[in-house]
Amino acid sequence: MSSKRSTQQHVEPMPVFETLRRVKRLSLRLFEPSLVVAGFLLVSAFVICSFFYLDYRELAARFGFSGQPEKFTWSQEKRTGSVEERVHIVEFLGEKGGGCDLFEGNWVWDESYPLYHSKDCSFLDGGFRCSENGRPDLFYTKWRWQPKACNLPRFNATMMLEKLRNKRLVFAGDSIGRNQWESLLCMLSSGVPNKESIYEVNGSPITKHKGFLVFRFKDFNCTVEYYRAPFLVLQSRPPPTTNGKIKTTLKLDQMDWYSSKWRHADVLILNTGHWWNYEKTIRGGCYFQEGMEVKLEMKVEEAYKRSIETVLKWIQNTVNPGKTQVFFRTYAPVHFRGGDWRKGGSCHLETLPELGSSLVPNDNWSQFKIANSVISSHRNSSEVLKLKILNVTRMTAQRKDGHSSIYYLGPNAGPAPFHRQDCSHWCLPGVPDTWNHLLYAFFLKHQTSLRRN
Ligand SMILES: *[C@@H]1O[C@H](CO)[C@@H](O)[C@H](O)[C@H]1NC(C)=O
Ligand SMILES: *[C@@H]1O[C@H](CO)[C@@H](O)[C@H](O)[C@H]1NC(C)=O
Ligand SMILES: *[C@@H]1O[C@H](CO)[C@@H](O)[C@H](O)[C@H]1NC(C)=O
Ligand SMILES: *[C@@H]1O[C@H](CO)[C@@H](O)[C@H](O)[C@H]1NC(C)=O
Ligand SMILES: *[C@@H]1O[C@H](CO)[C@@H](O)[C@H](O)[C@H]1NC(C)=O
Repeated sequence: MSSKRSTQQHVEPMPVFETLRRVKRLSLRLFEPSLVVAGFLLVSAFVICSFFYLDYRELAARFGFSGQPEKFTWSQEKRTGSVEERVHIVEFLGEKGGGCDLFEGNWVWDESYPLYHSKDCSFLDGGFRCSENGRPDLFYTKWRWQPKACNLPRFNATMMLEKLRNKRLVFAGDSIGRNQWESLLCMLSSGVPNKESIYEVNGSPITKHKGFLVFRFKDFNCTVEYYRAPFLVLQSRPPPTTNGKIKTTLKLDQMDWYSSKWRHADVLILNTGHWWNYEKTIRGGCYFQEGMEVKLEMKVEEAYKRSIETVLKWIQNTVNPGKTQVFFRTYAPVHFRGGDWRKGGSCHLETLPELGSSLVPNDNWSQFKIANSVISSHRNSSEVLKLKILNVTRMTAQRKDGHSSIYYLGPNAGPAPFHRQDCSHWCLPGVPDTWNHLLYAFFLKHQTSLRRN
């Protein structure tokens, strides 16, 4: 029965997908050189533009799918039909929802999305404001994550802020972590009418160069903070050495200096992965160190593995599980087609997710595999039981449509050149909102269990 249901859910979003695909194919065809007649080009440009701006309903109507949108509404119980379809899907927050794997599911079209608009949120880097930076389609903002075995609670900013009253929520990690932090600031501030009541405690503007930023929601006496720590472990000067190629070292057995500020947070979301590669370490003269010893021969993969061990040990030894709920967000895949960021890889033509998870290219995700294997090998140990994994890698791999691509330069700069694309970071509103929605679900669940005990 459950397998039948799952096939159904794979199939369900297909009509929309097909429609959009057709639209995409059609607009591509309009670009064919055989049609290069000046007047006609003008007309096609207009047609393409209107396709991009088209509302889903119009689009659906045009292709004879009118009346279908309710099929894609998010309450599974509303569907009628065979007995299977009327099976009541449990609520994650309900008593029976505890065993549900939130990361197993599908992206479904939801007309009520996005949860906020970037122009209403002053806490976003220019680089994430894709639509203001000229990205013409908004499809990427309209996908909601539907777990297979349960329903997520609808995101409610007021609810989350009330539960965060007098608390600190801290993100520590790389710039993808900052991407997620800014998403949460926007999601939460959408529930606060008086935006003046939200401010950075030191008056710092949002910029990617700051080491940390602390936003205070005055009416709730809570803070939502970000600490830049792309490796989570400590990067600093090497021990005295005569080897000129060693510029800095990563101390694989010590946490980042800022960690003293995270350890007392009430909610802590860690991530690391994107900087653990040759380019961002050894190539720049950054080697790995344990104790006083610099390990010139150590490979990045091994170093990453050891750093994750250190993070787990730190959680075990320093974090008070009675106070702090710790999350580790797994690697967020990049989508550079035909190269990487240096070699002209691109993602700017992607307007749709890969809706069948089986179609996701089988990439290596080496950083995911390494972290995952370290965490899994500790599965029954107390440090891992204290830790919640935001296991977003697979669901995120489907979202090749969600990246900033050429729309990261700011509203007045125009699109970036095609050979300089950002297929690592995410447009906001967008994919990181979903990671935060899952975070919200776990946070509420935890609060409920605390109240019960
Ligand atoms: C959101 O939560 C608040 C506080 O718990 C509640 O008063 C409000 O009705 C909720 N809003 C929605 C749309 O459910
Ligand atoms: C605000 O929250 C902090 C903890 O983050 C707490 O120490 C302080 O007492 C709270 N202030 C008020 C006015 O409740
Ligand atoms: C995957 O890993 C293999 C072996 O480690 C490597 O040769 C290959 O280039 C990798 N593929 C990608 C897409 O990174
Ligand atoms: C963890 O515990 C479960 C049940 O308690 C057991 O089935 C499993 O084999 C254990 N895993 C490891 C890695 O020790
Ligand atoms: C995360 O999900 C993947 C499947 O997408 C699974 O293979 C892996 O074991 C999960 N990791 C953890 C730590 O739960």
